[in-house]
Amino acid sequence: MNVQGKHYRTIWFKDYGVIQAIDQTKLPHEFCIEDMHTIDDVIAAINTMHVRGAGLLGAAAGYGMYLAAFEAPEGNFSSHMEEAGKRLLATRPTAVNIRMAVEGQLNAIRDVDEQKEGIEKLLKKANAIADEDAEFCWRIGEHGLRLIEEISKRKGGEPVNILTHCNAGWLAFVDYGTATAPIYAAHNKGIAVHVWVDETRPVNQGSRLTAWELGHQGVPHTVVADNTGGHLMQKGLVDIVLVGSDRVTRRGDAANKIGTYLKALAAKDNNIPFYVAIPSTSIDWRMMDGGAIQIEQRSGDEVKYITGLADGKITRMLLTPENSEAANYAFDVTPGRLITGIITDRGICKADFVNLMQLYPETIPKGG
Ligand code: MRU
Repeated sequence: MNVQGKHYRTIWFKDYGVIQAIDQTKLPHEFCIEDMHTIDDVIAAINTMHVRGAGLLGAAAGYGMYLAAFEAPEGNFSSHMEEAGKRLLATRPTAVNIRMAVEGQLNAIRDVDEQKEGIEKLLKKANAIADEDAEFCWRIGEHGLRLIEEISKRKGGEPVNILTHCNAGWLAFVDYGTATAPIYAAHNKGIAVHVWVDETRPVNQGSRLTAWELGHQGVPHTVVADNTGGHLMQKGLVDIVLVGSDRVTRRGDAANKIGTYLKALAAKDNNIPFYVAIPSTSIDWRMMDGGAIQIEQRSGDEVKYITGLADGKITRMLLTPENSEAANYAFDVTPGRLITGIITDRGICKADFVNLMQLYPETIPKGG
């Protein structure tokens, strides 16, 4: 997407052994690009949320595997790469895209035990993972567009009010985003839209990142405190809820940023369509019940402190009594029964086992 007239992805191959990414911890106040040279750099960037968001985590893991190959000891390529994969998998447990990327990379070098050949294959696959992510998000935009178009027609061209939570925008992927892709497609087609952006405590992916990227694309939006959504829905100020997900199970349960479940409950109570937009790489075909999804618990400091701009400097401040304990559950699970539909790269379907399988018949185990 564009930043001051220049096209960027969130992560890209810069040079032999050098990967670059946007440092998201500095946004919206500073736009910084950082270099990653080693798998340790990638792991640090993931752990500190310099790179974050389901699709981008997958792409970063793909490039992390590529960088890891440079450090392979002679004669030990395969086990070194297996170990690198385990380290990446241990970073953030909820987003299934990391697993998809690590497994894809290990597959790409299954018959390779020579470092030089491995590096070439890993770069090719990492670029393919990133390209596929962008392509899937683009298609999600095309499929989701019709939902917004229908509402716009019904409202006689009045702005379509969309509520979103967290950042399932292009910053969370390689390009376009998932929840935002239909919004950008509609906006680019001249359909009037307005986005309610949940601030998304504790890390404020909504107020920092979604607001920043919508602003850069010229999409009208308003940031609201996290608990505002229910009220807006009761007042008829939300036409549709569009969110992303870090892992959708085979039966359509969706893990997303903490607070998403409450939005789904409020949407159900107010008869407002609630859609989850995901690429197929975020579907965990091995898991049925969303209750089994591992919910990442992050440092309580993210709850206790807030970061913002003070006197022109990015500053971190304590919000709570110093000695209070804080718990930081990063995600929750919205059951499929609360989801109106899932917008995928292959089309829109009901959030259930049969409909998801019909869109992706190749995932049906052979013989049944
Ligand atoms: O903790 P983050 O910022 O990596 O959160 C993940 C997400 O970006 C959201 O849960 C998002 O809504 C899902 S789609 C990337």
